[in-house]
Amino acid sequence: MTGKRVLLIVGGGIAAYKALELTRLLRKAGVAVRPILTKAGAEFVTALSLSALAEDKVYGELFSLTDEAEMGHIELSRSADLVVVAPATADLIAKAAHGLAGDLASTTLLATDKPVLMAPAMNVRMWLHPATRRNIETLKTDGVLFVGPDEGAMACGEFGPGRLVEPPVIFEAIMDALRGPAARPLAGRHALVTAGPTFEPIDPVRGITNRSSGRQGYAIAGALARLGARVTLVSGPVALPTPLGVDRIDVETAREMLAACQAALPADVGVFVAAVADWRIDEVFGAKLKKEKGGPPALTFVENPDILAALAASGPQRPKLVIGFAAETNDVEAHARAKLARKGCDWIIANDVTEPGVMGGDENAVLLISRDKTERWTRAAKDSVARDLAQRIAQDLTASPS
Ligand SMILES: Cc1cc2nc3c(=O)[nH]c(=O)nc-3n(C[C@H](O)[C@H](O)[C@H](O)COP(=O)(O)O)c2cc1C
Repeated sequence: MTGKRVLLIVGGGIAAYKALELTRLLRKAGVAVRPILTKAGAEFVTALSLSALAEDKVYGELFSLTDEAEMGHIELSRSADLVVVAPATADLIAKAAHGLAGDLASTTLLATDKPVLMAPAMNVRMWLHPATRRNIETLKTDGVLFVGPDEGAMACGEFGPGRLVEPPVIFEAIMDALRGPAARPLAGRHALVTAGPTFEPIDPVRGITNRSSGRQGYAIAGALARLGARVTLVSGPVALPTPLGVDRIDVETAREMLAACQAALPADVGVFVAAVADWRIDEVFGAKLKKEKGGPPALTFVENPDILAALAASGPQRPKLVIGFAAETNDVEAHARAKLARKGCDWIIANDVTEPGVMGGDENAVLLISRDKTERWTRAAKDSVARDLAQRIAQDLTASPS
């Protein structure tokens, strides 16, 4: 990355101190950093700290005779390979979305001809406010890239989405953006991913579920997002954070999962990793079943809809590439190949769940089965399987027009 240049706009939020660490990481990687510190930003970190770490002058004023003489604001906006806003406050986001140009930072964002990456940071209510939601959508449509925000405890004492992602994550997003379109082969594509178990209720407090942790599906959703795809993750109940850049829809039952998947179409690729219950209770009891009522209850089951088969047969809306997962305990390849034919999907990723550490664990040993061949992948961490699969999906999709 030596020789690459970033124009770093630091907005006025508590998280501005993290821009100092980000500057250090970028300089260590050989990236030149030219900072713009807004008036509000200067309430949180000093120009001196930023300048010392960036090893460059810090810009702040639009109407500065010396700055304007040395480097005009238009030249400043074009002087980098990438413009990064971190933290991107609600105010900076709103100004950029509306094309306002009342100060140096917003004028630069309006005047630049370079890609812009924003790392938002604000109170959860500010982030969820319809005005901010609209502004983010506008900026995404304009081609602005985003990293984060994270979810968690905030400096203001509240909890939820709005925290600045950690500097190493912003750093990685900057590296991807600087590498250019080659690092985002799935830009402009929509990926639909399901993950986790389903939960089929018996009564208001009990239900039937399975041991799926959701880790493999979440890792795949994250890996597809890193390659630039817009990702919709339809998730059963799991205890996992939403991967960066992924839109997550929470569901419980198989029928809810199918409805959420159908509503998310059209998609270029569908990766169906969720362990969906084959059966549900015919009639869910309206009140909690009592032990005293004499003997165990007689539960009758009915078949759940087959999400993979339904999406593989969804006519003009069908994703170009439909990928199913098969958890098998014996004759893995034969069963998976039969499943490929039965469900009408394009690839089956089969795994032997009797292998220690696979179901609920961190590793996976998979076979990729397509209509004409079988590939045996070596056992690897679920993250690594996810990255390899995302690359294979990108190769397949980029070989056909979007
Ligand atoms: C203590 C304090 C913390 C703040 N933190 C944030 C924040 O994290 N995100 C945000 O959008 N605004 C935050 N604000 C409000 C902004 O500072 C204010 O909207 C400011 O005008 C933003 O200026 P900018 O456009 O230069 O970023 C905070 C204000 C105060 C007083």
